[in-house]
Amino acid sequence: MKPNEPSRTALMIARQRAAHQVLDHGSILYDPFAMKILREDEKEVLQFANGHPLASIGRLFTTARSRIAEDALSRAVERGIRQIVILGAGLDTFALRNPHGARQIRIYEVDHPATQAWKRQRLAEAQIALPAWLILVPVDFERDDVGEKLVAADFQQNSPAFFTWLGVVPYLTQDAIGRTLDYISSIQNSEVVFDYMEPEAFSEELRQLEKERTEQLKKIDERSVSRFEPAGIAAILHSHGFGAIEDINFQEIASRFGRAVQGLAPGHLGVHVVHAKH
Ligand SMILES: C[S@@+](CC[C@H](N)C(=O)[O-])C[C@H]1O[C@@H](n2cnc3c(N)ncnc32)[C@H](O)[C@@H]1O
Repeated sequence: MKPNEPSRTALMIARQRAAHQVLDHGSILYDPFAMKILREDEKEVLQFANGHPLASIGRLFTTARSRIAEDALSRAVERGIRQIVILGAGLDTFALRNPHGARQIRIYEVDHPATQAWKRQRLAEAQIALPAWLILVPVDFERDDVGEKLVAADFQQNSPAFFTWLGVVPYLTQDAIGRTLDYISSIQNSEVVFDYMEPEAFSEELRQLEKERTEQLKKIDERSVSRFEPAGIAAILHSHGFGAIEDINFQEIASRFGRAVQGLAPGHLGVHVVHAKH
């Protein structure tokens, strides 16, 4: 990310969620706030969605990873978890849609200070009030101690928590990833859903597009710096004491959710969603 500037990739993901509402009727992730928080009209959103062959694949993956995380989160709430931490929240709207309000859950949105300030401003401009259960915690994963910041925001370290960490790991250094996993695993009965990219992330059909995307990310200073093999991720999670690990690859995601995406382009990405329990 550029210093003191909000994440541009957070905006791209929000556009994908909005396009999913317009083109796919929110059939993977229904999000009545997706267009509102974006503050763009349908024409702009469709231009983005139709502008690139990768967009339909990105739309599938970004909405499916949120759906997988939110389904797992609901099961955790059923089991009694009351603290939810959304790491690198971007323009995620789960806290606005919270279906568990009656259960008195608390939702901590942790994000880079510049992205979080930008989100606050967007919500204010869209006249969307911050719900009472939402606590915003500005953190730079590369510099700050996430635990210290959460505790200062009244997070209960002795109670279980469910963490989502979507679209963030590829942009962090191995050091920041390790420190964040250290913290998540220090919370008893914690769970986390996150996604990661393989070193060879693009299939043959999409390889020529990779160069273009890398150039674009370089310009906005949001390069994907950390990629992993599935065996490497499993080893890291085991070394942090995570016992139950479910690793869902792109092919599984496409067979579960692909039909819901209008005009899904051929090709696949070496991307995975992981649900791990401590
Ligand atoms: C691709 S966006 C994903 C946003 C959101 N999770 C979603 O799915 O819509 C990446 C997010 O990671 C956050 N991020 C990247 N580097 C960070 C850092 N060093 N510290 C804190 N947040 C960071 C950005 O601010 C942004 O919100």
